[in-house]
Amino acid sequence: MYSPIKITETTHYIGVNDRRKPLFENQIPLPYGVSYNSYIVEDERTALIDTVDVCYFDVFLRKIDAVLGNRPLDYLIINHMEPDHSGSIRLIRERYPDIQIVGNAKTFDMIRGYFGITDNLLEVKDGDTLSLGRQTLQFILTPMVHWPETMMTYNPFDGTLFSGDAFGSFGTPDGGILDSSINTDRFWSEMRRYYANIVGKYGVPVQSALNKLKSVKINTICSTHGAVWVEQKEKVIDLYDKLSRYEPLEQGAVIAYGSMYGHTEEMAEAIAEGISAGGVKNVVLYDVSKTDSSFILSDIFKYSAVVIGSPTYMNEIMPAVETLLHKIEIRGIKNRIFAAFGSCTWAGVAPKRILPVAENLKWNIIGAVEEKQALKAEKYAEFFELGQNIAKQIS
Ligand code: FEO
Repeated sequence: MYSPIKITETTHYIGVNDRRKPLFENQIPLPYGVSYNSYIVEDERTALIDTVDVCYFDVFLRKIDAVLGNRPLDYLIINHMEPDHSGSIRLIRERYPDIQIVGNAKTFDMIRGYFGITDNLLEVKDGDTLSLGRQTLQFILTPMVHWPETMMTYNPFDGTLFSGDAFGSFGTPDGGILDSSINTDRFWSEMRRYYANIVGKYGVPVQSALNKLKSVKINTICSTHGAVWVEQKEKVIDLYDKLSRYEPLEQGAVIAYGSMYGHTEEMAEAIAEGISAGGVKNVVLYDVSKTDSSFILSDIFKYSAVVIGSPTYMNEIMPAVETLLHKIEIRGIKNRIFAAFGSCTWAGVAPKRILPVAENLKWNIIGAVEEKQALKAEKYAEFFELGQNIAKQIS
């Protein structure tokens, strides 16, 4: 039995919670799960907005039935084709053979490729509308938030924005879906982690989308992941605005290091002590071999300074550090204070391998320190001083 949640007079939530999948996109940990949000807008004609991961089709169908009973579904609006949302399209089409699928030209290229569906498609362009009766939906194309075909659907009748991945977060909304009916505390860090890892490369397209949205009055944000935002919608938009401008949310430093036997870790601690002695309270250390990079990236989006260290390993740096650097670089994260450090036993290359990433990103490089074998007292002072110099730039 399901009692679907009413979002507005005409909009129903029929999404599902996934607490089973360990990794989103088979790569990003989901300690608090994830939801695949889908909605039905009722009127003289009915519209389903996005579907869910195909693994949840059975429960999804029962939720649709609970809203519609024997009423037909007239439209399936596809805001985004990534399979966490598009996975049930084929089965929806089988259940509702007359349903018209609404999307843009890029959507339909993907529908053809993924599902072989080529008929009963209604192509829309930016600004086009679709009347359901009393309500007329508007389509806002927002390419690269998160794929080229992504678009949003806006309902001026009640100010509801179906935003696709934008404004989404990891974490399941448990019990309720509206931000007014659940404790949203845990969503903020999961929203940042979601942004940093899924959308973080696309800051410019997100800014373009936010500019387009300035022309519509938003009362409710219905994303494809996480809570539905009514009371805290301004906070959500503000967070996306800051993150997509790569603006640090707080002053502080993330120190991420690889360490095989603890020597590089001691150097990381020495830098942290210097930063702390400089009056900075937000200092976070991560061992890249232990902490998944999705959490480290999330804090790199949060804080103003980044410090990366590694031992020299096979005349390179540790692979996990290299992977983290690559993830930072492809996201084009801007405007960070930076320092590098490293250790070696006979020939050191770590800072030399690390610094070019910060140079390419035009970060403010404070310095680099390297120690041979164990950390000695004289060198400790250099690491500590590097930390103090970072603190001066932070404050
Ligand atoms: Fe939630 Fe880009 O899919």
